[in-house]
Amino acid sequence: MPITVRPLSYALGAEIQGVDLSQTLSNSEFDQIHRTFLEKGILLFRKQKITREQHIAFSRRFGELDRHDSLPRDRHPDYPELLLVTNIPEEDGKESASKYTGQQWHSDMSFTLEPSLGSLLRGITIPSVGGDTMFTNMYMAYDALSDGMKKMIEPLHGIHTGRRKVLDPNTAREREQSAINPPIAQPLVRVHPETGRKALYVGDKVSCIVDMTPEESKPLLDYLVRHATRPQFVYRHQWQQDDIVMWDNRCTMHIALGDYPEGEIRHLERTTVKGTPSGYYLQ
Ligand code: SIN
Repeated sequence: MPITVRPLSYALGAEIQGVDLSQTLSNSEFDQIHRTFLEKGILLFRKQKITREQHIAFSRRFGELDRHDSLPRDRHPDYPELLLVTNIPEEDGKESASKYTGQQWHSDMSFTLEPSLGSLLRGITIPSVGGDTMFTNMYMAYDALSDGMKKMIEPLHGIHTGRRKVLDPNTAREREQSAINPPIAQPLVRVHPETGRKALYVGDKVSCIVDMTPEESKPLLDYLVRHATRPQFVYRHQWQQDDIVMWDNRCTMHIALGDYPEGEIRHLERTTVKGTPSGYYLQ
């Protein structure tokens, strides 16, 4: 069956039809998918009834996989390449450590020195309504800034942490995250290593700008996130069971909306492809 490509929105994303990810793709099929990934930033594959091993094998075509040492609580106990994004309670009945994963605008692993190239999220159990994920195009966000703003932010670095702003920072998880992942400075503007295009690199996990006070940083960071998430740059994904959504973390940001009925299960599993080194530790 030939591969067909259907745009998902004006700003970004494409559905790839005519592939079965339980099978090994030929090099030419993979090349077409890879080209579309670089062009569109997000790929959707529907109706993919695949195993964990097949999810991992397809993801490896894009590069080395992260074993999630920086997020040890959230990885699958038998498959360190899989990150659980689930609200299924722990065996002792405690709330799942990953219930709130992704509920702020971010780019995966920005709080490490090897921010992710891309992530592949598989929808396994989807609520009856909602549980959506929104994505935004950070090339478009950068391009739409004025020349003056581009010049001002180009040399600046944001301080990225693994902390979640939406939750109580004193939970055991948050304490563990801060200990494993000290703050890291990342440029506010990154050059995509494959396309050569500039993209904004900000998000809700950026706490401050290097060499500025929190008071000075906050208005600029708030503006940049608000600007980057303007509706015209965004695609909202409504999950179906057996969807695989892949995104390019170097030119997109995403947020899990948490917009589903309490008591319903939302269970997804993610592989994370390692990217090129970026950023530096703060003293
Ligand atoms: C993530 O940020 O990787 C998870 C996104 C989601 O749960 O929709």
